[in-house]
Amino acid sequence: MEKVPESVEQKGKLTLMLVLVTLISTFGSSFQYGYNVASINSPTPFMKEFYNQTYSSRTGQYASESILVMLWSFTVSVFPLGGFVGSLLVAPLVNCFGRKGTLLFNNVFSIIPAIMMGCSELAGSFEIIIVARFLIGICAGLSSNVVPMYLGEMSPKNLRGAIGVVPQLFITIGILMAQIFGIRNVLGNHKGWTVLLAVTGIPAVLQLIFLPFFPESPRYCLIQKGDEEKARKGLKRLRGCENVDVEIEEMRLEDHSEKAEGQLTVLNLCSFRPLRWQLISIIAMNMGQQLSGINAVYYYADSIYSSAGVEDSSVQYVTVGTGSVNVVMTMLAALIVDALGRRILLLTGFGICFIACAMLTMALKLQESISWMPYLSIACVVVFVIGHAIGPSPIPYVVTTEMFRQSSRPAAFMVAGSVHWLSNFTVGLIFPYLEKGLGPYSFIIFGVISLLTLIYIYFIVPETKNKTFLEVSQIMAKRNGLEACTDSKEIHSLNPGLPVVVEEAAINATTF
Ligand SMILES: *[C@@H]1O[C@H](CO)[C@@H](O)[C@H](O)[C@H]1NC(C)=O
Repeated sequence: MEKVPESVEQKGKLTLMLVLVTLISTFGSSFQYGYNVASINSPTPFMKEFYNQTYSSRTGQYASESILVMLWSFTVSVFPLGGFVGSLLVAPLVNCFGRKGTLLFNNVFSIIPAIMMGCSELAGSFEIIIVARFLIGICAGLSSNVVPMYLGEMSPKNLRGAIGVVPQLFITIGILMAQIFGIRNVLGNHKGWTVLLAVTGIPAVLQLIFLPFFPESPRYCLIQKGDEEKARKGLKRLRGCENVDVEIEEMRLEDHSEKAEGQLTVLNLCSFRPLRWQLISIIAMNMGQQLSGINAVYYYADSIYSSAGVEDSSVQYVTVGTGSVNVVMTMLAALIVDALGRRILLLTGFGICFIACAMLTMALKLQESISWMPYLSIACVVVFVIGHAIGPSPIPYVVTTEMFRQSSRPAAFMVAGSVHWLSNFTVGLIFPYLEKGLGPYSFIIFGVISLLTLIYIYFIVPETKNKTFLEVSQIMAKRNGLEACTDSKEIHSLNPGLPVVVEEAAINATTF
């Protein structure tokens, strides 16, 4: 039996190179996701007016309320739909162009729609906005998966959690920037809204200029491309030291064990027993993340703030305040995730969300009868956002990177991404009806989903902190009920033509 070399335990340093590549890829890619979730919020009245005017100049009559609502909700929800399509493209693109290559290619889906949205008013067409939001949804769907994969593969394992949270941090920064630019006397007005929408192209241009100077994921170079020279060079730059043998060795060990499996397709992944519980876990965490209603809470916040006596003109500043809390808490999560571990943040986060939902339901119910209840409602919303920011929002990406190895990671991200975006789309579509039908009780549903996810994580999801990718698959192998010999059979049944020697090496490498 082989052993993982002891010196793998050495601590990886946070080098300038690693910091810069993290900042550039997250600002250039993850930022777009957050920005486009929130940018459309504040200019809604002006954009609807534009839709109305355009419609009337074409047909000679003004758009009816129902046509306008339909066009508008389509404009909003076509974004997560694009995100879904983007996640389906993840696996083919990252394996073909590489991680960095995909991020560079992805700028097409950001710069072109930015120009389209900027010109939409001049061109007198709202269809352009709808198509552009679909395209930028593809950009968000790709970047929400590829950035964590790229950074997760490049980070030393003691920093993988902290760096893995940075994409989520830039999503929240994107949301906050859109909220700030969306203030009425900044860009959230008659003249400014096309600029507000088009600003999303700027980070993409910066990424296109600067990312080419940074290395491709060494893991991708070595394992997918078999290019050790390039992997070694990249790793030296990332670690800032000459001796990277230990890490190359660890990658090679992973590589050997993976040769047996080959690249898993999504179909293979779904029927592959050694990865069954990992797969169920990432599906559960992504559904829990989205179906716990974080986007719906943002949606509902305005009316809660209004009824709490905040004047309409100030609601936008309260919204910016909530956005800031979100950013600060996500930063905190990045700082503590490698010290405290993933499990505790997930459990605490979902727990807080459950309590906040329960309290919010009560507060909304009593809003009319008790005068100070609206303030409790505001507090509940803020607490919910805090709870979501420290665990449920950022951690599932980290765990998805850590639970799968090189051969299955692209397929896993494809599944996780699809679940994420479809759930996002569902909540966006269903919440208005839920709110109408259940009133204050709609939040009980979100609370229950948070609680169920918490219970699942408590019993099933292991701590992945400071473990090598191989060690994590070791832990999960027990849950999947697999011993070395069945493992071998499973692998063999997938790749019947495999030479026995390679397979033996694989078993040795995966089961110490
Ligand atoms: C469309 O614009 C006209 C004129 O400004 C207005 O009277 C009408 O209410 C608008 N339609 C909708 C559905 O808002």
